[in-house]
Amino acid sequence: MGEMVKVAQKKDVAQSKGVAVEAGGRKVALFNVGGKYYAIDDECTHAGGSLSEGELDGHTVTCPWHGAEFDVQTGQVVGAPADVDVKGYKVVVDGEDIKIEV
Ligand code: FES
Repeated sequence: MGEMVKVAQKKDVAQSKGVAVEAGGRKVALFNVGGKYYAIDDECTHAGGSLSEGELDGHTVTCPWHGAEFDVQTGQVVGAPADVDVKGYKVVVDGEDIKIEV
């Protein structure tokens, strides 16, 4: 098991939004879907767009650069032009804190 790193507090991540955080030297996109939190690498595998700035529709985030879609629960690509998944992270809520396993 990896190390749990505190990356944000619940109030930092608005409903149906993403924020960019740092965890273990990586830039990670943290999302709030209906009060559940998900974390994937922030950098789109197509050309490096910031997924935390993408539009969130349910569990799907759309890259703001060329529209690739990823499932925030797993990091899996669900829409072109990206064809490589991003890394997904385990998220644990501890009181008001949000922690990610790195
Ligand atoms: S950089 Fe994300 S779709 Fe191109």
